[in-house]
Amino acid sequence: MKRHHFSFLLFIIHLPILAFCSERKVYIVYLGQHDGSQSKNEIEDYHLSHLSSIKAIDVEGARSSLLYSYKNSFNGYAAVLTPDEASRLSELDEVVSVIRSDPRKYSMHTTRSWEFLGLEGEKGSWNSNKMSGGLLQKAKYGRGVTVGILDSGVWPESKSFSDRGMRPVPKSWRGICQTGQEFDSSHCNRKLVGARYYLKGYENYYGPLNTTLDYRSPRDKDGHGTHTASTVGGRRVANVSALGGVARGTAFGGAPLVHLAIYKACWAIPGVSKVQGNTCFEEDMLAAMDDAIGDGVDVISISIGTVRPMPYAQDGIALGAFHAAKSNIVVACSAGNNGPAPGTLSNLAPWIITIGASTVDRTFVAPVELGNGMLIEGQSVTPYSSNKMYPLIYAGDALAPNVSKGDSGQCLPNSLNPKKVRGKIVLCIRGNGTRVGKGMEVKRAGGAGFILGNGPANGAELTCDSHVLPATAVTHYDAARIYDYIRSTDSPTVRIAPARTALYTKPAPVMAAFTSRGPNIIDPNILKPDITAPGVNILAAWSEADSPTKLESDPRIVEYNFESGTSMACPHVAATAALLRAIHKKWSTAAIRSALMTTAFQSDNMGKPITDAAGALATPFALGAGHLMPQRAADPGLVYDASYSDYAAYLCSLGINDPSFQCPNEQIVSSNLNYPSLQISRLNGTFTVTRTVTNVGGKHNSCYFSHVKPPTGFLVTIRPSLLVFDHVGQKRSFTITVKVRDNMVKRIIGDEYAFGWYGWNDGIHNVNSPMAISLA
Ligand SMILES: *[C@@H]1O[C@H](CO)[C@@H](O)[C@H](O)[C@H]1NC(C)=O
Ligand SMILES: *[C@@H]1O[C@H](CO)[C@@H](O)[C@H](O)[C@H]1NC(C)=O
Ligand SMILES: *[C@@H]1O[C@H](CO)[C@@H](O)[C@H](O)[C@H]1NC(C)=O
Ligand SMILES: *[C@@H]1O[C@H](CO)[C@@H](O)[C@H](O)[C@H]1NC(C)=O
Ligand SMILES: *[C@@H]1O[C@H](CO)[C@@H](O)[C@H](O)[C@H]1NC(C)=O
Repeated sequence: MKRHHFSFLLFIIHLPILAFCSERKVYIVYLGQHDGSQSKNEIEDYHLSHLSSIKAIDVEGARSSLLYSYKNSFNGYAAVLTPDEASRLSELDEVVSVIRSDPRKYSMHTTRSWEFLGLEGEKGSWNSNKMSGGLLQKAKYGRGVTVGILDSGVWPESKSFSDRGMRPVPKSWRGICQTGQEFDSSHCNRKLVGARYYLKGYENYYGPLNTTLDYRSPRDKDGHGTHTASTVGGRRVANVSALGGVARGTAFGGAPLVHLAIYKACWAIPGVSKVQGNTCFEEDMLAAMDDAIGDGVDVISISIGTVRPMPYAQDGIALGAFHAAKSNIVVACSAGNNGPAPGTLSNLAPWIITIGASTVDRTFVAPVELGNGMLIEGQSVTPYSSNKMYPLIYAGDALAPNVSKGDSGQCLPNSLNPKKVRGKIVLCIRGNGTRVGKGMEVKRAGGAGFILGNGPANGAELTCDSHVLPATAVTHYDAARIYDYIRSTDSPTVRIAPARTALYTKPAPVMAAFTSRGPNIIDPNILKPDITAPGVNILAAWSEADSPTKLESDPRIVEYNFESGTSMACPHVAATAALLRAIHKKWSTAAIRSALMTTAFQSDNMGKPITDAAGALATPFALGAGHLMPQRAADPGLVYDASYSDYAAYLCSLGINDPSFQCPNEQIVSSNLNYPSLQISRLNGTFTVTRTVTNVGGKHNSCYFSHVKPPTGFLVTIRPSLLVFDHVGQKRSFTITVKVRDNMVKRIIGDEYAFGWYGWNDGIHNVNSPMAISLA
C-alpha cells in the first residue's frame, strides 16, 4: 500500500515540473531606460540580437518569438522563452529583471459623484468653493491636457465623447487612431484623440481572439473602459439616466474638456462570463503604457490590478508607471476590491497614486413593506412599476430537489425550484455568485422579483445593479429581519415600492466595504492607499455592445450604467490630477499627488470623522489621507515634492538597478522618499524622519505652524514647529520624531498599527498627513 502511495506521489509531483521546464511562456525582459541615442529600428535590432544570443538562434528566428519591443521610455521586450532561457537572461548584467507573464494576474477593478465632490458649485452638498474658487473654470475644464485610459476600450458613439466646441488636437500629440474591427479613424475626434489596442500577449496565451467575445479594435465590448473614460473626461450630457429613469440628471466627467487617449489592453476571457472576469496581460499593458508615454499623455488612469500585490520588479504596472513618472506623467491606479480584509491593496509603488473607494450622498430608495406592516429601507435602480403585495419566499426554502443545502439562500445558477418560486418575490443572500446572476436565477425560475440581502461580510453597504427583474437591496441587519418575518408566518407577503432618488444622504462619504485595505505588504514603510474617491453606484457611459448587467442572457442596451468599484474611484482622481496639470504645468507628479492628499477631507457631511462600512472609524489604511476635495487641491499651500531620481535611487536600495542610472552612495530608503504621509513599521524606541515642503501658496511671505495628533501611546515631535517662507518655490525641511511613550503600548496595540495625523497650517491652508506606526 505504502509503496503504491509513494509512487503515485512521485508521479503527480514530477509531471508539473517536467511540463514547467519545457513550457514556453511569455517573459518581459526589462533593461531599464532608453538613453535616447538609438532610433526605433536600432532599438528593435538590439532587442532581437539580445534575444538571439540567449536562444542561440539567428535574428530571424528570434523575431518569431518576440512579441513586443518597447521603444519609447521603457527599455525591454516581451518574448516567448523557456524557463531556462529566462533564467539565463536574468543573470546578464544589463538585465534589470525578468517578469513571467501570468494569464490571470491582472484584471479590471470592477453623476452625482462630481457634484458631491464640490466641482459643481452650489449644488454640491459638501462644497468648499469659498476657499479656492471654481477649480473647473481655473483649469479651463482641463483644456489642453490629455489623459490616457488603460482599460477595455471605448464606445466612441457615446454622447459623452462628442468633440463639439473643443479645441484642436494639441500639436505635440503623437498618438494614432488604430483601425480595427468596427473602428476606424473616423471614430477619433478632438475628444478621443487616440485609440490603440494590444493583444499579442492575450493571443499568445488564448489563441486568436474570438471576435464574437470582443472587438479586435479599440472598441469596448465590456463597458468598463467606456465608464472609466467618461468619468475622467466625458462631456456634459443632459437628461441621462440608467434603466427606467432612475437618477436622471446631467452626466459629465471631472475634466470635461480634456482630450482622451484610449489604450485597450483588457479582454474577455474565453469560456468565462464577463460578470466573472476579464484579463489584462502585462506585456500588453506595458506596450500600452510605453506608447502612452511616447504619444505624450499627461495623466494615465489605470483601473486594473492584481489580487495579490507584486514586488516592483515583477509588477508591470509599477515598472511602466515608473517610466511615466520619468516623463512627468501622473499615474492614478485603483487600490483593488479585495477589502475589507487587511493587507489587500494592489498598485503600491510610491510613484503611483493609489485610490480607494467610498460612497456618495445619493441613494436610490426602494422601500420594502412586509405583510406585517414593517417597513424596511431598500435600495434599487431597477425600474419597477407594480405596487401590489406578492408572496415572499426565502431562497433556501425554494431549492431544486438536486441542490444541496450548503449554498442555500444564495440563488446560485440553477439552484431554485420554479415550482416554488413562480410569481413570488425571493429573498436571496449575497455570498458566492454575482449579484446580477442571482437576479437572473430568480427570473429563470419565474420569480416576480427579488430582495438581495447582504451577508455578514457586506454589512450595510448597498450596491445598486441594473437587475434583470424588479429588485431591491437591503443591509445584512434588514435581511435578517426579513428572514425572521418569513419564519414567523405561514404566508409571508411583501411589496417593493418603486425607487426614487434621495439626495444629501447622511452620512457620506462612508468607505466601501469592498475597497482594499492597508497595510502595504510590499513596503511596510509607505502608507497606502493615498486617497479615497467616489466608487459606489457611479453613473457613467456604457458600451452598447454589452448589457447593463454584463450577462449574456440580458438583452437590454443602455447608454449609461451604474458601476461600483475602486475602478470607478480611480478616474475621479485622474480627472482631478488633469485639472491640476492644466493649472500647474510645471508641477512634478509628486507635487500633484501631494496636493491631492494633503487637502483631502477626513470628515463626512455630518462633520464627523469618516466611518468605515461596518460603522467604526475609517483608518488611513482604508481612507489614505482622506476623501478627494478637488476644489482645495489646486491651492495646497505646501507640497511634498520628489523626483524621478529619488524613485530610481529608492529602487537602487531594493537592488533594482537601472544600468543607465548612477545609484547614489547614500541609500534612499522609503522613509527618505519625502512622501506626504508617514508609516513606520516595527518601531523600536525612537525614529526620526526628515521631510521637505515647498511653498506653492500664492503669497510670498507665509508662516506655517505644525500640528500633531499622535497615535495613542506615542510621542510625536515636529522640529522646527514653525516654518517661515519668504518666497514662492522656497523649500523648508523639518523632522518628525516618533517615540514610544511607555512599555504598556505593546500590550495595547500588539502587532497592529496605531494611527495619527500631522501637518501645517498658515491660517489659510491646512496641509494634513496621516501616520501609521507599529511596534517591533
Ligand atoms: C466564440 O464565442 C462565442 C460566444 O461565446 C461562441 O459561441 C463560439 O463558439 C466561439 N467561437 C470559437 C471559435 O470558439
Ligand atoms: C428626459 O428624457 C425623458 C425620456 O427620454 C423625457 O421623457 C423627458 O421629457 C426629458 N426631459 C427633459 C428635461 O428633456
Ligand atoms: C439540477 O437539475 C436541473 C435539471 O435537471 C439541472 O439543470 C441543474 O443543473 C441541476 N443543478 C445542480 C446544481 O446540479
Ligand atoms: C463559497 O464557496 C466556497 C467554495 O465552494 C465555500 O468554501 C464558501 O463557504 C462559500 N461561501 C459562502 C458564503 O457560502
Ligand atoms: C530594540 O533595540 C534594543 C536596543 O537598541 C535591542 O536590544 C532590542 O533587541 C530591540 N528590540 C527589537 C524587538 O528589535
